[in-house]
Amino acid sequence: MPAPVEPTPGDADPAVEPHRSDDMAPGGPARQGTVPGVARSRRRRLLLIGGALAALVVIAAALIVRASDADGDRGGDGTTSPSAAGEDDVGSGEDDGDPPPGPGATGLGDPYFPDVGNGGYDVSHYTLDLTWRPDAGRMDGVATITAESTEPLVSLALDAVDLDVSDVTVDGEPATAELQGERDLVVTPPAPIAEGATFETVVTYTTGPRSLTGADPVNPGWVADGDQVYTVFEPHGAATLFPANDHPADKAAYELRVTVPEGLDVAANGLLSETVPGDGEATWVYDAPDPMASYLVQIVIADLEFVEDTGPGGLVLRHAFDADVAARLADSMDRTGEMVDFYDDLFGPFPFGAYGAVVVDRPLGFALETQTLSIFGTDSATGETIVAHELAHQWFGDAVSPATWRDIWLNEGFATYAEWLWAERDGQAGPGSMAESVAGFGGLDTPPADPGADALFATSVYERGALTLHVLRDTVGDDAFFTVLRTWVERFGGGAASTAEFEALAEEVSGQDLQPLFDAWLRAPTMPVLADWVG
Ligand code: ARG
Ligand code: ZN
Repeated sequence: MPAPVEPTPGDADPAVEPHRSDDMAPGGPARQGTVPGVARSRRRRLLLIGGALAALVVIAAALIVRASDADGDRGGDGTTSPSAAGEDDVGSGEDDGDPPPGPGATGLGDPYFPDVGNGGYDVSHYTLDLTWRPDAGRMDGVATITAESTEPLVSLALDAVDLDVSDVTVDGEPATAELQGERDLVVTPPAPIAEGATFETVVTYTTGPRSLTGADPVNPGWVADGDQVYTVFEPHGAATLFPANDHPADKAAYELRVTVPEGLDVAANGLLSETVPGDGEATWVYDAPDPMASYLVQIVIADLEFVEDTGPGGLVLRHAFDADVAARLADSMDRTGEMVDFYDDLFGPFPFGAYGAVVVDRPLGFALETQTLSIFGTDSATGETIVAHELAHQWFGDAVSPATWRDIWLNEGFATYAEWLWAERDGQAGPGSMAESVAGFGGLDTPPADPGADALFATSVYERGALTLHVLRDTVGDDAFFTVLRTWVERFGGGAASTAEFEALAEEVSGQDLQPLFDAWLRAPTMPVLADWVG
C-alpha cells in the first residue's frame, strides 16, 4: 500500500476544506500588537507592586534580552504576558492615582486584525436571547453582556457588524449607542464606569444572515440556507450575529436561548437545560458554562435528529443530524467515544462537560471545532480524520485559545498532529511516515507562526505546524513531549496562550534550548529539511 497521505482536511479531496489554499503569500506586514485591555488590567497590579519594582526591572531586563535573541515573534503577544504594554504602562502611569475615564479601545491590537475585539473590559458571561423568524429571514436578538472594566470607562465598544440596534442599557440605565466604522458599536452609559466594576450591558437588535469577506476563503458569519441556519465564525464573524468582544483573548460563559417556530429544532454549544413552549414556537435554552471564545459559538436551527451516547468516564456525547441526512450519516460519529478515550490519555481529561457533532445538510467543504459541538457538512462528516481533527481542537484551540490570530498554528498544527496520532492508533500510517510524506510534498515555505492574515488556514499552518511538533517530539523524547502537551492544557486551559508561551513551556519541561528548532520550523521563510532534524 503506498504510504497514503491521509485525507487531512483539504488534501486528498479538494472538495473538502478548500480553505487550505496552498502556500498563499503571507499577508501584509504584521503589526506588532499587544492586547491593550488585558495589558491595562495588568497595570494596576504592576502599580500596586510599587516597591518591588526595582527588583522586577532587573528580572524584566534579563527576560527582554532573552526575548530579543529570537525574532520579533517572541515579543509578548500573549494575554498573559503582554510585557511590552506592561512596561509602557509602568513608565507612563506614575503613582499619582487613577487616570481619568476614557473611551475603551475599539480594537485589541491583534497583529492580524487590530480592530477586532475591544479594550477596557473583560466579558464573563453572555446571555443571547435570539428569535429566528424564518419568514422574514431575520434574527431578533437581546444580548445581555456581563463584563468587568479593566480601566475607568466613559464609553466602551462592542464588535457589531450590521446589527440594527434599537435599544441599549448599561446597568438598567438607557445608554447611547453609535455605530463606528465597520464593526464597532460604541456604548456610552449615562455615567462613567469605574475600573474593576462589574456591569451589565443589554443590547436589543435585529439582523439578517451575513458573512464577512476577505479574511479567509471560508467567509466568517452566519448562514441561512433553505430551512437551516448555522454559524461559521472563525476568526472574527461572531459580531454578525451578536454584539461581542469578538476575540479569543476574551473568553466567557454563554447561555444561548433560541426561539424557533414549531417544527424546527436547535442545537448549540453546551447542554440543553430546558425547552420553553410558546405560542406556535419554543425556546431552546443551552448552557455553555466553560469559558469560550466568541468564534466557537455554534447555533444550528433545522429539523434535527439527536443521538445520545456516553463517552469515557460518563462524558455526555450528543450529536445532532439534519433529519434529511440522519439515516445516511448517523454512524459517522460512532467512534467519537473511542477517540476521546485515546486523546484523553495523551492530552489530559476532555476539557468540557459534553461533546458531539452537528451535521448540516450541505457539503460545507470544511468542518469547524465549535466548542463542545463541532460542525460538519455532509462531506466532512464522512472523513474520520476530520472527525478526529475537530475533536482534538477541543483541547488545542478551544480549551487553550490562540492569544492572537498569528498564533493559529497552535490550533491547526496541533489538531493535524493529533490526526497522525489517531491514524497510528488505528493501524494506519503514523506520525513518522506522515511527516515524511507531508515534508516530501514541499510547498511549505509559509512560516506557520506568521502566515499572514490572508493565509490563516494555509496548508503550511497545518502541515508544517504538525511537523514542528513531530520534530519537537523527536528532539525531547516522548515523555517530555506529552508532558508539554498535557501541561499546556492544564496551565492555559480556560484561557488563551501564545507561541512564545509554548516555546517557553517546551524549554521548561525539556530543559533544552529549543530556539534553533522553533526558529527553523515556525519562522524560517523556507521549509527546513526534515532529515536534518529527526534522528
Ligand atoms: N478550524 C477549522 C479546521 O478545523 C478551519 C475552518 C476553515 N475556515 C474558517 N474560516 N475558519 O480546520
Ligand atoms: Zn483545524
